[in-house]
Amino acid sequence: MNPLSPADDRAAPAEEPQNVYDDPAFFAGYEKLRRTRTGLNEALEQPALWSVLPDSLDGLDVLDLGCGFGDFARMARARGARSVLAIDVSANMLAAAAERTRDATIEYRRQSIEHFDSAGRAFDLVVSSLALHYVKDYAAVVSRVATLLVPGGRFAFSVEHPICTALPGQQWMRDAGGRPLYWPVDDYRAEGERRTRWFVAGVVKYHRTVETYVTGLLAVGLVLRALKEPGPVAGEVAKGVPDIDLHLRRPPFLVLAADRVRHGSRGSFGGS
Ligand SMILES: C[S@@+](CC[C@H](N)C(=O)[O-])C[C@H]1O[C@@H](n2cnc3c(N)ncnc32)[C@H](O)[C@@H]1O
Repeated sequence: MNPLSPADDRAAPAEEPQNVYDDPAFFAGYEKLRRTRTGLNEALEQPALWSVLPDSLDGLDVLDLGCGFGDFARMARARGARSVLAIDVSANMLAAAAERTRDATIEYRRQSIEHFDSAGRAFDLVVSSLALHYVKDYAAVVSRVATLLVPGGRFAFSVEHPICTALPGQQWMRDAGGRPLYWPVDDYRAEGERRTRWFVAGVVKYHRTVETYVTGLLAVGLVLRALKEPGPVAGEVAKGVPDIDLHLRRPPFLVLAADRVRHGSRGSFGGS
């Protein structure tokens, strides 16, 4: 088993982030969803995220923010990354990640994204898969990530699409027979906390606009390389994912990639 680094035991910061993945009922539901592969991660989100990564991960030092079960970390190593530092706030998720990992170059560390201490390390690639919509201060995280990237390094992440997080209900409006009529969007410009039900009540997510996600990157001098709103190809029924065609009607995810550019260059990974 891959030992976990000790939890960050510095003086508790004023505001600790939510840690709903350590709620037993939530964790049981989420673990089952991922185990049965009936979620959208494998079908839509992961292919889109991987498509905005550098063509080769050979020799790269990678930081994964909100690593969950460590799937990305292990895949990054399989694709040539030199090391992966993978952080998450949830002890449950990290314990499962460590159990599934036999690789001394992957380090799992229990830290929040907000209070991550890099101890002076820099990274070629910083990735975050479906975790940043749990973070209150996006601008602060992006600003920090920009300082953690080597010149030419890339930041790539996915979030729940702002069209989905605008309203706390996060539900289709349905007719009397339960058939989806439309996905309601309101309060799009009112950024901030949304309390929703996902396995348990009161799961806190933070809604922000697409504009905020993009301009936050530009504001710290990163150069936008990709913006994707992945959805199923029309008519395609991804095996095992119920009602996947519904996601043709509104995008479930937003995927962004941006580079810290070397002075006088267009970035080390080209224009992909
Ligand atoms: C939807 S899961 C995604 C996990 C993994 N990235 C994946 O794609 O399989 C979100 C993960 O982000 C973690 N997380 C949420 N808020 C966090 C925070 N503020 N700091 C660190 N991790 C956080 C959760 O504990 C959870 O493991």
